[in-house]
Amino acid sequence: MSQENNSQNVFGMIGLGTMGSNLLQNIADQGYHCAGYDISTEQVSRLNSLGRDNIRGFSDMKAFVDSLVSPKTVMMLVPAGNIVDKVIEQLLQYLQPGDIIIDGGNSHFTDTERRSVDLEKKGFHFFGMGVSGGEEGARRGPSMMPGGDREAYKTVQPVLEKIAAHVNGEPTVAYMGKRSAGHFVKMVHNGIEYAIMQLISETYAIMKNGLQMKDEAIHDVFRQWNEGRLQSYLLEITRDIFAYKEKGSDHLLLNDIKDQAKAKGTGKWTSQVAMDLGVAIPVIDVAVAMRNLSSFKDLRVQASKLYPNERTMNYTETNDYLYSLEQALFFSTISAYAQGMHLLYMSDKEYQYGLNLSLTAKIWRGGCIIRSAFLEVMYTAYRNNPDLEHLFLDIQICDLLADTLPGIRTVVSDAAIHGIAVPALATSLGYFDNFRNAMMPSNLIQAQRDFFGAHTYELIGKDGVFHTDWEG
Ligand code: 6PG
Repeated sequence: MSQENNSQNVFGMIGLGTMGSNLLQNIADQGYHCAGYDISTEQVSRLNSLGRDNIRGFSDMKAFVDSLVSPKTVMMLVPAGNIVDKVIEQLLQYLQPGDIIIDGGNSHFTDTERRSVDLEKKGFHFFGMGVSGGEEGARRGPSMMPGGDREAYKTVQPVLEKIAAHVNGEPTVAYMGKRSAGHFVKMVHNGIEYAIMQLISETYAIMKNGLQMKDEAIHDVFRQWNEGRLQSYLLEITRDIFAYKEKGSDHLLLNDIKDQAKAKGTGKWTSQVAMDLGVAIPVIDVAVAMRNLSSFKDLRVQASKLYPNERTMNYTETNDYLYSLEQALFFSTISAYAQGMHLLYMSDKEYQYGLNLSLTAKIWRGGCIIRSAFLEVMYTAYRNNPDLEHLFLDIQICDLLADTLPGIRTVVSDAAIHGIAVPALATSLGYFDNFRNAMMPSNLIQAQRDFFGAHTYELIGKDGVFHTDWEG
């Protein structure tokens, strides 16, 4: 792709919401001439009103496509689902075989799979690409997870590498693997995102409801944590949320926000796929479930009157306790990443994407929502052993878990005694304790299954399957 062609645009964007418009401006900053299209004339005017020499907004799709240099490259940043199919259908009226279509939205990977096959048959190059980093990331440097048509990716690679965030001089974009690999990896990224957000919110619950800490003190703790090994984008914004007051207000905006979390579905998809593949990612599952539970506000209000909390925490050693809490959050965050990565490992076996987990960890170190200091450690683990099946088996991770284990045990047991809900923290510990358990109690489940349903069982040290007449 050339940056010198002034007569025609080298990159087209469909969907000029904040993400699309910001990404386009990011591309334009690199000297590329580009075009934007949106069904909403308002969005188009907004783009044109930026007055950028090398960005042009169009309300007419044909004119938009005509303005692009051939082979044409069009990226869509529109809501996932039917809209993507509709936009593609419309686009195909104007594009020629050989042109490139990129879906940069959060499409379900099975949709991407279907669209890849369909568009390839028609002679178009198509690839799905996860884009992470929110509005600011799109403007200043996102993390991008392309997958599918490798040749098409190579054509756009120079642009994407320029607009991506950079860590140690390297761009946070890389080819993830075949077919729908890009959208699959992004979906799992979001599953981890849900888990970490839930974990942070549980530490907030302990500080607020357990330790009865004031907002300013909570802000201070998040600030301090963010200066250490827990440093992450999600903690950074949490710290800032704990300092944000509307003009003229004497309290945090946070305290006026309804406790009902919404979701667009990527976390749920992660859990659904993990269930289908038989992979355990319980911290992500719990995060999805708690967003769902939060929406039952009326029921929760009724229940809060029926079951008032009978005990409050009464700690004098707050600093010690906060250290345990920091350990608990670090331990459980590692667990969330480990479960997501295990799902990627197993999905690669199933879907034959050709994933490279070391590369995934590498491009998540910057630009994306789950970027964190820990990702450097995770990247090292996969770089040292590209075939690492589970993060918990890495020796450095093993040390970190051992170091933080006392904290998670303290926090989870205290929270249980005092009636503070920490389902994700508790699940991260339960997952760990079973993961390191060479003899889970699942032998009893097998015996029960065989007892009531003659489902058979296997024996230790003996080949074959067996059935017993348990009541005989
Ligand atoms: C990202 C985010 C983004 C996601 C939002 C909202 O990586 O930039 O994951 O893609 O859409 O965070 O997700 P929910 O509405 O499901 O919370």
